[in-house]
Amino acid sequence: MAKARKHKEKFKNFNLVVFGGTGDLAYRKIYPALYQRFIDNQLNCNYNIISVSRKAGYELKFQEKLTSFLTKSIKKSKTNSADLKKFISNIHLITAEESSLEGYGDLKAFLNQFKGYQDIFYFSTPSSAFGEISQALKDSGLTNESSKVVLEKPLGHSLESSNAINDQITKTFKESQIYRIDHYLGKETVQNLMVLRFANNLFERAWNSENIDNIQITVAESLGVEKRAGYYDQSGALLDMVQNHLLQLVCLVAMEPPYALEANEVRNEKLKILRSLRPFNKQSIKTESIKGQYTRGNIEDIKVNSYLEDIEKYESKTETFVALKAYIDNWRWKNVPFYIRTGKRMKKRYSEIVINFKEVKHNLFPSKERMNNNKLIIRLQPEERIELIQMTKIPGPGGYRYKPIALKLDYVDSFDERFPEAYERLIIDVIRGNQTLFMSQDELVAAWTWIESITNSWKSTGAKNILYEAGSWGPGDHILDNKESWVTKSWNKK
Ligand code: BG6
Repeated sequence: MAKARKHKEKFKNFNLVVFGGTGDLAYRKIYPALYQRFIDNQLNCNYNIISVSRKAGYELKFQEKLTSFLTKSIKKSKTNSADLKKFISNIHLITAEESSLEGYGDLKAFLNQFKGYQDIFYFSTPSSAFGEISQALKDSGLTNESSKVVLEKPLGHSLESSNAINDQITKTFKESQIYRIDHYLGKETVQNLMVLRFANNLFERAWNSENIDNIQITVAESLGVEKRAGYYDQSGALLDMVQNHLLQLVCLVAMEPPYALEANEVRNEKLKILRSLRPFNKQSIKTESIKGQYTRGNIEDIKVNSYLEDIEKYESKTETFVALKAYIDNWRWKNVPFYIRTGKRMKKRYSEIVINFKEVKHNLFPSKERMNNNKLIIRLQPEERIELIQMTKIPGPGGYRYKPIALKLDYVDSFDERFPEAYERLIIDVIRGNQTLFMSQDELVAAWTWIESITNSWKSTGAKNILYEAGSWGPGDHILDNKESWVTKSWNKK
């Protein structure tokens, strides 16, 4: 196990105020991420974590839940009760009705004791409350030029609602103060996409439509909707996963090299990709998109319910699977399909990007077998690794016989370091003031604009969900009848 590091970078003292501070996300992700950074000696300044909750008289329960989540989230060998106690002593619970000014008195009194600290407001509530909270913070005199605000997804449910939220928030905060979280950008393997592409001359030269046949991005989940039925049924796979996580992956795979690793340079390159995505229309939506919903099935021999049973409704048109054949209309990617897929209750959980290279121009060898097997497989999670599939001669007599073999880089074997959780990196970046891994408003608008070309085209063509069994790989060829089989085409089903 790697030891706690010495961190040279010294942070400015801070107050982190978490709205929705007794919500699931805060317990599961935000506090454990901070705890891990604390154990690793990175929180080397004075700080307070303030959990804002609407529930009065909740102190005891809060302490209990916090202790239990923190203990669970950190490997046993690293949990030491003195550390845990010290960390928890910096977390304060304040009761406040988030949307009315009244509750903000206690918060103000608390923050006033720590003048000169940077104040970070983390909105981990439904986004419909963001406008009211930021206005109430402003009216209470709690914000200034150096305050920051962190916004959890989903930011609205359409371009219009997302813009409306932004209009409300920007009455209080400037774009340079806003951190829009997409936790995929905090994943180690997702950050490695930049290193893989821009620190290796080898790949960048082949990274274009001359050499690449297609790119496949898959985020398969075996989980269902868990306890989020209300939210999920309003969103579906397209808004929950594609609008943010998958599009960010597309950007990192497809963008031009930024001239520097600065936030605006990186974000502008991503923005160009989002703006070059070819919008869907009534024709293309029929042949280049599929949506599905899971029925009952088995996952690892355990019977699981259908989506409708999970959300306790008789009817719902919400999709739990989506597959798209997308194009980026620019010079580098002309006519290279990007196959994007995601689904809940799939056979296994894995996220992967596959770069499928074109066939060699001329086959010298006697074998009739096609030679289009060069692939770069980037496994984002779990069992993180990179594989380069190359044709290799089978040893022995019998002429040139060959088969695809993988050159493998396994993260676990190559590094001793633990993989920090995405939230650790992202929260630290907020503290240090680095917006590179956060979405800009322009990116959000471009992403919504493209997503709406899909939702509008689905609506106008009356597109229906194709049912798939939980524990399968989603709507397959047999269900799709004679439709073009791109949904399952060369999909690396694990
Ligand atoms: C969230 C979605 O943003 O990402 C969830 O709302 C999804 O529905 C989750 O399960 C997937 O994240 P990860 O890190 O488990 O791949």
